Amino acid sequence: MMRTHYCGQLNETLADQEVTLCGWVHRRRDHGGVIFLDIRDREGLAQVVFDPDREETFAAADRVRSEYVVKVRGKVRARPAGAVNPNMASGAIEVLGYDLEVLNQAETPPFPLDEYSDVGEETRLRYRFIDLRRPEMAEKLKLRSRITSSIRRYMDENGFLDVETPILTRATPEGARDYLVPSRTHPGSFFALPQSPQLFKQLLMVAGFDRYYQIAKCFRDEDLRADRQPEFTQIDIETSFLDEADIMGLTEGMIRGLFKEVLGLDLDTFPHMTFAEAMRRYGSDKPDLRNPLELVDVADQLDQVEFKVFSGPATDPKGRVAALRVPGGASMPRKQIDEYTKFVGIYGAKGLAYIKVNERAKGLEGLQSPIVKFIPEENLNVILDRVGAVDGDIVFFGADKAKIVSEALGALRIKLGHDLNLLTCEWAPLWVVDFPMFEENDDGSLSALHHPFTAPACAPEELAANPASALSRAYDMVINGTELGGGSIRIHRKDMQQTVFGILGISAEEQQEKFGFLLDALKYGAPPHGGLAFGLDRLVMLMTGAASIREVIAFPKTQSAADVMTQAPGMVDAKQLRELHIRLREQPKVEG
Ligand code: AMO
Ligand code: AMP
Repeated sequence: MMRTHYCGQLNETLADQEVTLCGWVHRRRDHGGVIFLDIRDREGLAQVVFDPDREETFAAADRVRSEYVVKVRGKVRARPAGAVNPNMASGAIEVLGYDLEVLNQAETPPFPLDEYSDVGEETRLRYRFIDLRRPEMAEKLKLRSRITSSIRRYMDENGFLDVETPILTRATPEGARDYLVPSRTHPGSFFALPQSPQLFKQLLMVAGFDRYYQIAKCFRDEDLRADRQPEFTQIDIETSFLDEADIMGLTEGMIRGLFKEVLGLDLDTFPHMTFAEAMRRYGSDKPDLRNPLELVDVADQLDQVEFKVFSGPATDPKGRVAALRVPGGASMPRKQIDEYTKFVGIYGAKGLAYIKVNERAKGLEGLQSPIVKFIPEENLNVILDRVGAVDGDIVFFGADKAKIVSEALGALRIKLGHDLNLLTCEWAPLWVVDFPMFEENDDGSLSALHHPFTAPACAPEELAANPASALSRAYDMVINGTELGGGSIRIHRKDMQQTVFGILGISAEEQQEKFGFLLDALKYGAPPHGGLAFGLDRLVMLMTGAASIREVIAFPKTQSAADVMTQAPGMVDAKQLRELHIRLREQPKVEG
């Protein structure tokens, strides 16, 4: 081994000892005939001092540049009192350099690493191997590794077996587009990369493995956002003979243990909230409970008004009229309100009515609003009382299809929470339960809200009679407004699975063709089973405070699902295509 210690591990207890360090030159300073090199490795920095007494070593130190790879031998000594650096793990000591060997030179890096610099993401991703040298990036990946080892330990202690499932497989419906892989040996046929190991883990339960987990790569070709990557990692879990409460208890125990172990935080037991309540109060099935703002339904006060914008949705069974009170918001300038109006427009809202409550005691006089003229005073008072409006507040209104109002005001709520610094605590985890089985598409057909293998909370006959109002046995874990994980008790009887496929409009032939193996498995002794999957990247993002999961993935894709470092996806040559029985429809334009 070349080194005796990592730089970041040096401390006072090593004073007067000789050490050998290997790492990168982070910073080089010349101070009145003495050269200081900060040497960096994955554990941190150490300051090495070279004085001119050792002529040859001094000359070598004088020649090194940023990011040279060096090996340094020297003696640890306490820094003089005034020179202690509390921001550095090894800040109480320094190393007096005896020799310095350059193991490799480096060209000037594309961006400086010796200070935090705000470099464009494209550049960071293109030179990710350099970006990852930044101490703040290394910290995140190290924390990720601690998280996965803690999870593995927990799963192991609880009797889970780690089983791998295939990457080349058939489509697994999780609601996104598949990544396809053409088959050379089966002309015209394609594998799909798994959107999740869902069906395989269910089959492992049928096989009797009872408790399975896997830290599994999943692939989904969908629109990317800060918390979505085309290739991401799940902590995937499945169990037999446990009910919802058992599974939620077990996995909540894992997350709470992790927060304790890695962040030193004690989280309280997670509250449970029904999907219906979450939508009603927060306009979202992943409410951020750090944010105190709430939506309040007011349709019953506005169904008679002449203002059609309100009375229309108030009398439409699929409509919703809701109010959102913002304490102290009456001082908000017009320009700000216009900006929020534009913001809700992204979600399809056609406007953002508001009432500024300047002085309630003055009645109508004390309100400032483009809509109070349309609303009888008694209804107005009921509304203001219901939302708890006091002087100095602003109350926003949304009126439209329920989906639009919930999404628009739900998003506005989050935005206001951040803009106005309203968050009341640091961590707000919860379970969302009692999801509907299905959601209605615009054409009236039904889609699975979770996935088609989720068990309903009722019997097959009831489900078939009234699918749109059936609830499922699914549950999601939400932390700070991020859906961290989700799962369900699964269907373990063939007739029930066929009923659900039928409701989803999947014909008997298609069921056989796509899911024949599952239906087979369900008839050969499938145990009652259920599980859940966490998004590992999202978990690490939350625990490191990163703004995006790209910050906690070593080599992520860009927003347009490309890898700018390896230049993937890339063209392939004609011979390879021919072997795969593929002919491109038109010659794609070569970029650049
Ligand atoms: P679901 O589709 O809800 O459920 O996914 C589970 C969790 O995976 C994470 N996740 C993602 N993370 C990053 N990028 C993505 N594109 C992405 N998509 C999902 C989320 C999500 O909560 N098989 C079921 C689980 C089950 O029923 O057991 C499933 O995949 O954190
Ligand atoms: P208008 O009569 O269209 O000028 O709208 C009067 C007020 O109602 C304005 O403040 C609009 O922003 C608001 N508004 C219009 N449509 C809606 C809607 N669907 N939901 C909430 N507010 C609306």
